[in-house]
Order: sequence, then C-alpha cells, then structure tokens
Amino acid sequence: HGRDLPFRRTVDPYKIAVAEIMLQQTQVDRVLPKYAAWVKKWPKWQSLAKATNRELLTMWSGLGYNRRALYLGQVARAIVEKHGGKLPGDPEVMRTLPGIGPYTSRAILIFAFNRPLVTIDTNIRRVLIAELGLPHSISPNALETVALQILPKRRSRDWHNALMDYGAMVLTSRRSGVKPLSHQSKFEGSLRQIRGEIIRQLTKKRRVSLTEVAKKLKRSMADVQKAAAGLAKEGVVCVKGRKVQIAVQ
Ligand code: ADE
Repeated sequence: HGRDLPFRRTVDPYKIAVAEIMLQQTQVDRVLPKYAAWVKKWPKWQSLAKATNRELLTMWSGLGYNRRALYLGQVARAIVEKHGGKLPGDPEVMRTLPGIGPYTSRAILIFAFNRPLVTIDTNIRRVLIAELGLPHSISPNALETVALQILPKRRSRDWHNALMDYGAMVLTSRRSGVKPLSHQSKFEGSLRQIRGEIIRQLTKKRRVSLTEVAKKLKRSMADVQKAAAGLAKEGVVCVKGRKVQIAVQ
C-alpha cells in the first residue's frame, strides 16, 4: 500500500538528491509539482551545474527556505568539478557538500543505492517510538542505535519508504500522541514572510527596494532589514543600502 511517488520510480542519485533536499521541511504534496518541473528543466548534475542563481530561485519559488535551491546548484558544481560527475558514495564525503547533513546524505544513499544505513525523519521517529514503546525523550543517538538493530539490511530502501508512509498515512502525530521535535514557526508576520517576499520580487527584477517591501507587507523597516541581512549572511542576496540583489555564485 505504499504511496506511488515520482521520486520512488527512479534510483537516479541526482533525482533522489533533488527530491530529498526539497522534502527537508516541506510536505510531499507541495514538493511534487516543483520536483517534476525541476528534473525536466535540469535532468542531471551537468545541466544543473550551469544554472544561474536567478534560475534556481525561480524554479524553487513557493518551496521556502530558498537557500536550499542555491545549495543544490553548488552541489551540482562540486560534483561536476571535484567528483567526476558522480555523487560520492561515502556519507562522510557527501556531508562535505553544501546543504547535505547527516540525515540527507544517508537518505540519498538509502533511496538511490539501497545501502544498509538508517535515517530518521519525523515520521520514522514517531513510528519507532510508538511501535516499540520507547520514551518520547529518547535521544537521537539512542534511537539510531535501535533503528540499526531492526533494519532489514537487504531491503533498506523498502523499509524506509514503508516507515515514512506508515507514519505519514497511519500512525500520525494525532493518533500516536508522539509530538514532532521541532515545529516550523508561523509564517504570517514572521521574518520568513519578508524573506519570501524579497526572493519573490527578486525573481522578477534585478534590484528590489527594501522600502517597497516594507510598505507592501506593512512591516517595519527594521524587520525588513533584518530579513535582508539574514538572506545576505546565507549568501542568497547582496545588500547595498536599501536595495538588494541576488548574490552571484
Ligand atoms: N520525505 C523525505 N523523503 C521521503 C521519501 N523518500 N518518501 C516520502 N517522504 C519523504
């Protein structure tokens, strides 16, 4: 009864990496149209490596946490320039790539190569705690040890897909009483809302006025400048006085 998802119909490490980075902090149904458009426009690392930051942000629009789009471009260029065009198969090497943490590196290796590793997202954590009667306070390391003990090593891909589906469709947070560890802050009225607006305007024109963003969202100039500074620190934009533009890669 597993979900039939487009990124499950492929074992191409490139497409799996795109899906996993999109799926960090974003729901499956919001990822689906963006994933389809992205892999159509850029079907492999070599094509993605040639994309501009403006194109990356445009294709990412609506997914949020826009830094992930630029990371994907940097990953593509690193793979083409330093890794012979192939995703490194070692999770430790993979983690040297921008935006690829321990969760994502192992998720990619599991779904692309069926490697006998474990990765624990919010769904898998909830399923393990509820089904095995573990304390809700269990540490990530202890949970990982348990997960490794019960992993069916030759069916790592199927096992992880099954646990994710069981958590997403059956053993929900409401039904299990297991709360997620972190939750996203409210979007409306947040700095994320301002960041989203700045990026949205930047995909349409070269320079964006922070004063206009403040006026449009009815937010203080201090908040808008804080949001712009955050984007600049992450390397997404350059701020020049009261104007911003997309950072060049
Ligand atoms: N979330 C992250 N990776 C996923 C996957 N492969 N299937 C479903 N949900 C996911």
